[in-house]
Amino acid sequence: MKNVRIIGTGSYTPDNIVSNKDLSSFVDTSDEWISSRTGIKNRRISTGEGTVSLSVEAAKRAIASSGITPDEIDLIIVATICSDHCTPSAACEVQRDIGAHDAMCFDMNAACSGFVYALNTATAYIKMGMAKKALVIGTEVLSRLTDWEDRSTCVLFGDGSGAAIISESEEVGIDNFYCRSLGSLSEHLVCGSRDFVNPYTNQKVDPYIRMNGQEVYKFVCTYVPNAIKKVIEQSPYTFEDIDHFVLHQANMRILDSVAKRLKIDKDKIYSNIQSYGNTSAASVPIVLDEMIRKGILKKGHKIVIAGFGGGLTYGAGMITL
Ligand code: ACO
Repeated sequence: MKNVRIIGTGSYTPDNIVSNKDLSSFVDTSDEWISSRTGIKNRRISTGEGTVSLSVEAAKRAIASSGITPDEIDLIIVATICSDHCTPSAACEVQRDIGAHDAMCFDMNAACSGFVYALNTATAYIKMGMAKKALVIGTEVLSRLTDWEDRSTCVLFGDGSGAAIISESEEVGIDNFYCRSLGSLSEHLVCGSRDFVNPYTNQKVDPYIRMNGQEVYKFVCTYVPNAIKKVIEQSPYTFEDIDHFVLHQANMRILDSVAKRLKIDKDKIYSNIQSYGNTSAASVPIVLDEMIRKGILKKGHKIVIAGFGGGLTYGAGMITL
């Protein structure tokens, strides 16, 4: 099987910064409640840019950092639960806008695990020789799916996009993944689609994100440490070899709890949740890109990425940069 490496990353978030104090002007909440329960201080909220628009900016930055041209890309996957259209997919629209004329394109719905699932899928295509260079994007405009009167959810989420270019390589890079889903627990995190209306039925659908926060919290603390252990066990490395753990930015307390359960030094778990909130499928690639641009992650570093969220879904990957 072929080796696969990440050769470029990029990210993009809307300019509009919304603070906890801003939120408290229209829902019954406070900076103290939000900060102490989640670690979030600010989030970026779109003033009109959709999933494709955010994705295209992140993609252009990832392509620029990789040094390839768009026509070398033969696979585009956008992980999102917020496609601008049911069809075309966001991936096809990104293809159009960046001029990647020779690519197969599709979206993937695995909520906050989306980027990890999409990276796993794109890696499998390249390892099997079915593609050579893939653009993998995680983008959400969760502000479209948020009930802005529901204080238990609207304080948590933000909008943004992150992208990676992965390529067939001589060197070892992306080692292995462990991804699983728990459909039997799906009721704990849901977001309806549009009303179901035809001449024979008329069903109203709740179009907003509804979450049983405590059940999601328990799920993450139970399953995510196990996925992280699995990808390290499946690799030639040990816990001590891992330079950084890049986890979905759902909540600071969750990150602390995962660190405690695995006895990981907190310095090895980077977080930018204070600035962006929970951007679902976008959070892992936004963190990756920020760490690379700041020089915290360097070529040769060994990292474990992990995502978890609606489905319920979770997954981890072992990567050498
Ligand atoms: N401001 C002020 N008070 C609030 C707010 C708010 N924004 N939201 C809820 N409350 C109140 C509740 O009404 C409740 O009040 P009551 O005791 O008078 O009934 C009280 O705060 C406690 O509410 P809980 O829901 O029990 O709060 P909890 O301590 O569980 O914290 C939280 C909520 C932060 C969501 C927590 O459950 C959590 O972190 N869960 C994990 C969820 C998560 O991270 N999901 C994301 C992963 S999946 C994905 O990324 C989509």
